[in-house]
Amino acid sequence: MKVIIVNDPQEGGKAGFKQFKDALANGARCFGLATGGTPQTTYEQLRNSDLDFSSCRSINLDEYVGLAPDNDQSYHYFMQQNLFNAKPFAHSDVPNGLASDIAAECQRYDQLIREHPIDFQLLGIGRNGHIAFNEPGSPVDGWTHEVKLTQSTIDANARFFANEDEVPRSALSMGIGAIMAGKKIMLEAYGENKADAVAATIEGPVTPDVPASILQKHPDVVMIIDKAAASKLQKQY
Ligand code: F6R
Repeated sequence: MKVIIVNDPQEGGKAGFKQFKDALANGARCFGLATGGTPQTTYEQLRNSDLDFSSCRSINLDEYVGLAPDNDQSYHYFMQQNLFNAKPFAHSDVPNGLASDIAAECQRYDQLIREHPIDFQLLGIGRNGHIAFNEPGSPVDGWTHEVKLTQSTIDANARFFANEDEVPRSALSMGIGAIMAGKKIMLEAYGENKADAVAATIEGPVTPDVPASILQKHPDVVMIIDKAAASKLQKQY
């Protein structure tokens, strides 16, 4: 794992942008994308850049079950606002949280990922070490599936909703197996409340209790973390 420690999320956004730029220059054409607070500074840098994704494909990690694409809390909507309106891709896929047949939607998504292998995967990390919505205990070889969100994740995401009751209780998520199949992975983490998860991911044992720790076994991972998120690391990077 390559670890890049930055001062703050703004600097992290610039470092994240550089990784996207280099990936594009090196031929990446399929980008796995994430939502949430973390990637926002990177998306801001991408929006304000002259990078062109119009011949690329994007595949998002996850979507809440039950939210329509035009719901302003859906991940479809988030991606539109934070990236796609400014930087359209040739094709962009986000799981369909309104699918009436969830199993069929998961199969469709897996087939899409298999047909379009991800060259560059962007990740955030939950306070409990989750990646995408793969909560602690998730199988490391899993593909797309429906996830019941843990209380920790519901609490963390409540800040984006009017109140906690409005946070959906389940989501569709790419599995850890599909994430690990990505050629290169960039994980960003900012803030002290990510410090335990970051330390466990980088320096702890590889265990399903900390889903992101499996990234230690991937050959090409870059972690962009700010000083606060790095504060519980024991070693120097
Ligand atoms: C979002 C996603 C989640 C978030 C994680 C951190 O697509 O897959 O795993 O990356 O919950 O969320 P933030 O960035 O809001 O702290």
